[in-house]
Order: sequence, then structure tokens, then C-alpha cells
Amino acid sequence: MTGRPGAAPFITFEGPEGAGKSTQVARLAAALAGAGVPHLLTREPGGTPLGTRVREVLLDPALSIDPLPEFLLYSASRAQLVTDVIRPALARGEAVVCDRYFDSSLAYQGAGRGLPGALLRDLTREATRGLTPDLTVLLDLDPAVGLRRAAARGQPDRLEQADLAFHTRVRAGFLALAAAEPGRFLVLDATRGPDDLAAEVWAAAQARLT
Ligand SMILES: Nc1ncnc2c1ncn2[C@@H]1O[C@H](COP(=O)(O)OP(=O)(O)OP(=O)(O)O)[C@@H](O)[C@H]1O
Ligand SMILES: [Mg+2]
Repeated sequence: MTGRPGAAPFITFEGPEGAGKSTQVARLAAALAGAGVPHLLTREPGGTPLGTRVREVLLDPALSIDPLPEFLLYSASRAQLVTDVIRPALARGEAVVCDRYFDSSLAYQGAGRGLPGALLRDLTREATRGLTPDLTVLLDLDPAVGLRRAAARGQPDRLEQADLAFHTRVRAGFLALAAAEPGRFLVLDATRGPDDLAAEVWAAAQARLT
């Protein structure tokens, strides 16, 4: 599964807008710090100077971006992040926690926008050089609830503005990815309380710490 037996784990968080990914990333980071586990936190898109610039483009509500260039922009950010940040940290023996990774592209640009899954997988394999997470936490949530949570924060970004049907396809896409790889995914009901979720995430993370 990992290709890196005995190594520190690479853990990703996935799920729709407002599911609580960033909240749980912070909770896991606190748990890792408390246990004295060296770790690195990052996020997509972003995490490098290139990724930060690409993030601004992707989230700009004023821009119209077609599905393929949208996917390629995410992939550009991801490729730079894997090369410059994630692989070096794993090589130093640090656990890596990433807020979104390639499953988001498969769900949003694949299931959501309708790009062919085989194309996305081929390009993703190149962009990541095959680096697959050891654990992916999917915070599953009714998109209407997630969009309400996100809206409470203020002006919607470009993706939060997409319609509910799009976000419903994205949710189904995430669940299909999880069903196809049950050993990698931990699917959690994101309506549960943050403490409860954090405890289950920490148990799953600990099981992957060597
Ligand atoms: N388990 C939870 N139950 C209820 N509300 C939550 C829970 N976790 C987080 N929230 C709240 O929901 C909102 C979104 O949380 P958060 O920013 O962690 O989600 P996210 O998945 O990172 O969102 P985005 O996709 O927009 O980055 C915040 O106001 C947060 O306080
Ligand atoms: Mg977030």
C-alpha cells in the first residue's frame, strides 16, 4: 500500500467544503506534538511559493476556469508540493499531514466536473510520482450542511459558489474512492463532534506509527 514500509506515515484529510478538515488537521497535529512525533503540516493547493500563487488563482471567484485547466493547476501545485515538501519530510522520518490531496481532484474534477477518471489517475501518478497516503480520513457530510458551515465564514470562494448538484456528485465521488480502497480510507460522519472525531482519527494515526 505505502511502498514505504516502516516509515513515518503520510496522512491526508478529504471531504467537502466545511466538513471540518482543517479543524481535524489541527487536532491531529496537536496530538502528534503531544506524543513527541516529528511531523509536518501542509495543505493543497498551496504549501510552496508556487502552490500559494496557484491557490489564489483557483479560489478567485472572479475567474472562470474550465475543468481541464482547473485539474492541471491543482496538479501543478501538487507536483511541486510532493517534490519540495512532502517527500523531503518523509525522507527525514517525519509524519506528514496534508489538508486535501489527490483524492480531492478525483472527486471534484472527476466525479464533480466529469473529467475522465483514467486521465486524472495517469496525470496524478506523474504529478505525485506515485506517492499515495498511508491513511486518508474522509469527513463525509451532506453538502448542504457543509456549505452552510463554510458560508458562516463570509464570502464564498469559487468552489463554494458551485451548485448543490455539483457538490452532491463530489460527495458520491469521495465515497466511491473510499469504497474502492477500504484499507487506506477512514470514513467518518462529519456531523459528529470535533472531540469525538479527533479521538477516532488519533487512534487510526497511532495504528500507523511505527
Ligand atoms: N465536527 C464539527 N461539528 C460541527 N462544526 C464543525 C466541526 N468541525 C468543524 N466545524 C466548524 O465548521 C466550520 C468549517 O470547519 P473547517 O474549516 O475545519 O472545515 P474545512 O473542511 O477545512 O473547510 P474548507 O473546505 O472550507 O477548508 C468551522 O466553523 C468549524 O468551527
Ligand atoms: Mg479547510
